[in-house]
Amino acid sequence: MTEDSIASRPLLEQVRSGDGVPAHIAIIMDGNGRWAGERGWPRFMGHREGMKSVRRVVTGCLAMGVGHLTLYAFSKENWARPAEEISALMKLLSEYVEREKQELAEKGVRVKVIGDRSRLSPAALVSVDSIEAATTGGDRLVLQLAISYGSRDEILAAARGLAVRCAAGELEPLEITETSFSEALFTAGSPDPDLLIRTSGEMRVSNFLLWQIAYSEIYVTPVLWPDFGEVDLYEAVLEYQRRERRFGRVTR
Ligand code: FPP
Repeated sequence: MTEDSIASRPLLEQVRSGDGVPAHIAIIMDGNGRWAGERGWPRFMGHREGMKSVRRVVTGCLAMGVGHLTLYAFSKENWARPAEEISALMKLLSEYVEREKQELAEKGVRVKVIGDRSRLSPAALVSVDSIEAATTGGDRLVLQLAISYGSRDEILAAARGLAVRCAAGELEPLEITETSFSEALFTAGSPDPDLLIRTSGEMRVSNFLLWQIAYSEIYVTPVLWPDFGEVDLYEAVLEYQRRERRFGRVTR
């Protein structure tokens, strides 16, 4: 057990005895650059440290019994960053895969990568394929890594896919429902996130899971991603448990 796990134990107990654990948590991991900048280090060091937070949130989700976790690791907009930073992020992805895939598989985590794979380098594609193949049997937690991901692109691709099926006579336009539309997205098979967490205090959704977060509770913390650990995750879930989810209805 890690130090973080020991320190966060009482909060974990509180979550377990609280009112419902989210089935799906989505996280916008932000603040790596600032974390590194505060130390006078290159941005890449923030991303490297951020990988440890990824480990901690996976541990936390397994401990709570959360079945789906989606992490925004690299947005479509991130392709506009300096080539050096993009290449560092892609190397980190390969490192993450090599370091974690076996343990993830042993712990029952199934990794799925969502996003536009056509822009990934051959090496990054090999990593993505290898972690998906190694973890395909995982049945405790689905870990969706959003890489080269943009939600508007995802929605457009789903709409086009359904339009093509209509044009081919396989589907009637009126048969397109919220359920069938959801199943045409990259996240098919996962419930909508109950809780969306964003670190580093920014109040934006940044083209992340726009369709899927229609009714999600949003939790923004000032903590920078590399400092985010199990305690922060459980605090977010405790806050979620305190909220009254109405889905547009009146409850009293
Ligand atoms: C945002 O911080 C973070 C990213 C663009 C990358 C997130 C990547 C990781 C946590 C590491 C890799 C993870 C996996 C799963 C392989 P920012 O750079 O925008 O920070 P800033 O807003 O402070 O500049």
